[in-house]
Amino acid sequence: MNQVRERLESLRREVGRCRKCPLWQGRTQTVFGVGRVPADLMLVGEAPGFHEDRMGEPFVGAAGQLLTRLLAEAGLPRTEVYIANVLKCRPPGNRDPLPEEVEACLPYLKEQVELVNPRVLVALGVHAARALLGRPVSISRVRGQRLEALGRALVPTYHPAAALRGTGAAEAIGEDLRLARGLLEETRKAVSVLDPPEQLGLF
Ligand code: URA
Repeated sequence: MNQVRERLESLRREVGRCRKCPLWQGRTQTVFGVGRVPADLMLVGEAPGFHEDRMGEPFVGAAGQLLTRLLAEAGLPRTEVYIANVLKCRPPGNRDPLPEEVEACLPYLKEQVELVNPRVLVALGVHAARALLGRPVSISRVRGQRLEALGRALVPTYHPAAALRGTGAAEAIGEDLRLARGLLEETRKAVSVLDPPEQLGLF
């Protein structure tokens, strides 16, 4: 397990030096990811905003506070999950990520997913859903569905910033997080039936 943490730390350092797209020029720092390692649930957002760029941590601004509350209400404490973004640098003025920025940054996210090894991924917003699925999707069509990405269950949902705009997205996000929790419980049961604790090394 320490090996996984070391590889994640080394990836964090590599990301910290990244100049694969021009976004490095405007960053205060890269925003790599935060949370439990390994984690059963990993949330993927779009890109750091103003506060994240300053603090070096994903989802610490208003959208992040709302996300923390919605997670807790769904029975998923923030401390139990891992959170990262598709882009590790803040786009100027919080504009949408450009395709070439996503292409440059996505290998970092894919490696993070491998290392964190979640059973369930939640894509927060259309940009995360598209990046993880590798195809264009409409978030209102795919939200709340159990899809698959990177060999894992994926639940796309709205970005918490949409809920801050009072569009009623908060209820949908809550519902989708509860779906993700249900999937976690299902996969946990499946694992405990298939693999007795001795084989997993869990005593
Ligand atoms: N929005 C995101 O997509 N990610 C963050 O970290 C903050 C806001």
